[in-house]
Amino acid sequence: MQAIGALPLSFASRLVAWHAKHGRRDLPWQNTRDPYRIWISEIMLQQTQVSTVIPYYERFLAAFPDVATLASSPLERVLEHWSGLGYYRRAHLAHRAAQAIVDHHGGTFPHENDAITALPGIGRSTAAAIAAFAFGTRGAILDGNVKRVLARHAGVDGFPGDAKVERKLWRHAESLLPEREIETYTQALMDLGATVCLRRCPGCDLCPVANDCIALREDRIDSLPAPRPKKILPQRAVSVLLLHRHGEVLVEKRPATGIWAGLWSLPEVAVDADIVAHCLVRFAAEVAPQTPLPAIEHGFTHFRLTLHPQPCAVLGLPRHAAEPGLLWLPLTDIAGAALPAPIKKLLRDRMLA
Ligand code: ADE
Repeated sequence: MQAIGALPLSFASRLVAWHAKHGRRDLPWQNTRDPYRIWISEIMLQQTQVSTVIPYYERFLAAFPDVATLASSPLERVLEHWSGLGYYRRAHLAHRAAQAIVDHHGGTFPHENDAITALPGIGRSTAAAIAAFAFGTRGAILDGNVKRVLARHAGVDGFPGDAKVERKLWRHAESLLPEREIETYTQALMDLGATVCLRRCPGCDLCPVANDCIALREDRIDSLPAPRPKKILPQRAVSVLLLHRHGEVLVEKRPATGIWAGLWSLPEVAVDADIVAHCLVRFAAEVAPQTPLPAIEHGFTHFRLTLHPQPCAVLGLPRHAAEPGLLWLPLTDIAGAALPAPIKKLLRDRMLA
């Protein structure tokens, strides 16, 4: 540890100094104090990597440049811009939060931590990050990467998602906060987690806080933080119907809750359903099932889903084409539609090729 006189430099000072040389300083949501732009970036970054987020972020901000525009846009349009980013609940909640900001805060993003945390989709860590970057408010953050940095640095055992372990990490995060330069410190902590203190093969020789890292000293870098206790996720399977005719495919609006809520997707049926009978009853469509396509595996937070794509040529013109919740989507519109990523990929690979 470097020292000034006899005083060792604090954790925060070493991070801030490291950031000046090695931190990220020109991400599209940096160099602004606009809480709206910062908020949207933090929501997108909650479960998604920086490199994936950047193009979505830029398109989203071009379409919804401020809170008022987001609040007054139809959810459908918001979902179109989120399509492919996953974890769509974030988009639903961001839309709702924008409406709450307009309705309860006169369209101005709130400054107080309690008011920020009360907005849909914003937890304690995200609120602290927004407040630090937008208003310079001093507060601890604890996202997934930061949990890893702190669990290693303080040698905290146990799975960080466990409430007791998480409480310990929050206390540690708070104890390390600097009095000044909270913005740089917060960004430095995020950057250290994203670029040096990696889950596998971390660059401990490049780390500014390696000298007093307990995991490094005790040779426990590979075992900290402890992984999520193994839980076997339930497995479900459905057939997805690719009903196609004249360069269009039938899509169905998903219910407002549950997986892929509010997105358009392919109609689903039980794997053992009689597809011809189902299509006649549900869509008034006479169909000829074709060779099934290879199954697609998709993981959700609480279960795994196997999709069995079943192409069907539509023979008779269905009466229900204009029914609300059903849409004949031109194949040329697939890219911009609010479809889940695996469905968009399936249509792109199999219908546009
Ligand atoms: N992850 C979460 N917030 C971030 C930010 N502001 N910059 C980079 N990565 C992040």
